Amino acid sequence: MLGYSEACERNKAVILQQLQTLLSGHKRVLEIGSGSGQHACFFAPQLGHLRWQPTEMEQMLPVLQANLQQYGNDNIAPAIALDMMQSQSFESRFDALYTANTLHIMPWQAVEAGFAQMPGWLQPGALLVVYGPVKYNGKFTTASNARFDLWLKQRDPRSGVRDFEALDRLAAEAGFEFVEDISMPANNQLLLWRLK
Ligand SMILES: C[S@@+](CC[C@H](N)C(=O)[O-])C[C@H]1O[C@@H](n2cnc3c(N)ncnc32)[C@H](O)[C@@H]1O
Repeated sequence: MLGYSEACERNKAVILQQLQTLLSGHKRVLEIGSGSGQHACFFAPQLGHLRWQPTEMEQMLPVLQANLQQYGNDNIAPAIALDMMQSQSFESRFDALYTANTLHIMPWQAVEAGFAQMPGWLQPGALLVVYGPVKYNGKFTTASNARFDLWLKQRDPRSGVRDFEALDRLAAEAGFEFVEDISMPANNQLLLWRLK
């Protein structure tokens, strides 16, 4: 698989276990920042009742498309370009949005712009599922997450582990209500909000 991610390989089973319950009544899932498509290719066959819409930044799209062609499933829609920073619209709305390990990579302005657009992408009542590391009130959950934050910022000063409170504020401003914070292995969280 092009752009294979070891982290993705390690976390996919535990995330799927949660999604099987969380998305049992859902039909159309929009994924932001699908990367190599490893999650989409692993989840979709085991969530056969729904249609999975992968997306990526324009420059990463060829890798994602090539992997989907080789390892995809028939309930995965063709991948499309989506940058949270850019204005985006869809012909019909999704009832869930999933994103993994993206909000600490993209610039904060992209996180803000993306959250502000989400109500236009989703149906009322849609579930927002965010996987990744977060801080709480500015404090890292572990020393390894603090080191990861430093490493991210050395790579790109605009990246960094986000504060849960800042994400929750953006979500509330966009019309979401917080549902649950599920602790996952390797100091990650699965954060859930529902669009009112
Ligand atoms: C660490 S990778 C995670 C990929 C995949 N979701 C996973 O869990 O393996 C971060 C992804 O975020 C995407 N990304 C970065 N900035 C973005 C933006 N402004 N809008 C959408 N996606 C973005 C990158 O292209 C990259 O694929």
